[in-house]
Amino acid sequence: MDDLTGKRIVVTAGGTREAIDPVRYISNRSSGKMGYALAEAARDRGAKVILVTAPTALPDPSGIEVVHIVSAVQMKEAVIKATAQADALIMAAAVADYQPKSAVKEKIKRQTAGAELILELVRTPDILAEVKGNFIRVGFAAESEHLLENARDKLKRKNLDLIIANDITAPDSGFDVDTNKVTLIDRDGKLEDLPLMSKREVADKILDRMVGMIGKR
Ligand code: CTP
Repeated sequence: MDDLTGKRIVVTAGGTREAIDPVRYISNRSSGKMGYALAEAARDRGAKVILVTAPTALPDPSGIEVVHIVSAVQMKEAVIKATAQADALIMAAAVADYQPKSAVKEKIKRQTAGAELILELVRTPDILAEVKGNFIRVGFAAESEHLLENARDKLKRKNLDLIIANDITAPDSGFDVDTNKVTLIDRDGKLEDLPLMSKREVADKILDRMVGMIGKR
């Protein structure tokens, strides 16, 4: 299939890491598998793909420009650059919502920190909501409750064209597995409930929906 030939697609993947000190960070359970599957599927359909990825255990896919970042702030900068001429942005990354207020330069010592250590956190930028440009915006909503309600709310709040609602409590779905069970919701409220399938198959379903959207843009 070559229905994305000549299109520029930016995909983000992995869980960002927010430094506490030089050896410690806050992160999440994202493996990057969904984002990498999307990047590879878009490449195989002819797109020019830029993959902006937080650290993962996955090798760099061939035929894709891979930009390695670590934190949410770095991901935002990389996404701004990568989307300069993009037709679509797919935010599959699990971006940390909070980062330590100040990353300490020296390793925090058990002796000096004492019996209790309070970590002050501040919000990270909301990349999907803040990065401007005339491209199709696709987001993920990984939820443990009120799946469709929360996903619809995010779709509106972040002005998205498509959201992939992902029930992380479902078996064989969500973090670190090769399969996923998702529901796609578009701007018009059209709902597509997909059965459990491989992340690569989910990726192609998402791209099937995006092709028409890019054409109409
Ligand atoms: N996202 C983003 N920037 C952030 C947080 C999330 O761009 N700082 C993107 C994610 O990549 C995802 C979508 O927004 O595509 C929804 O992410 P999620 O963490 O579910 O949404 P939040 O806005 O963080 O909402 P909440 O934590 O209340 O569920």
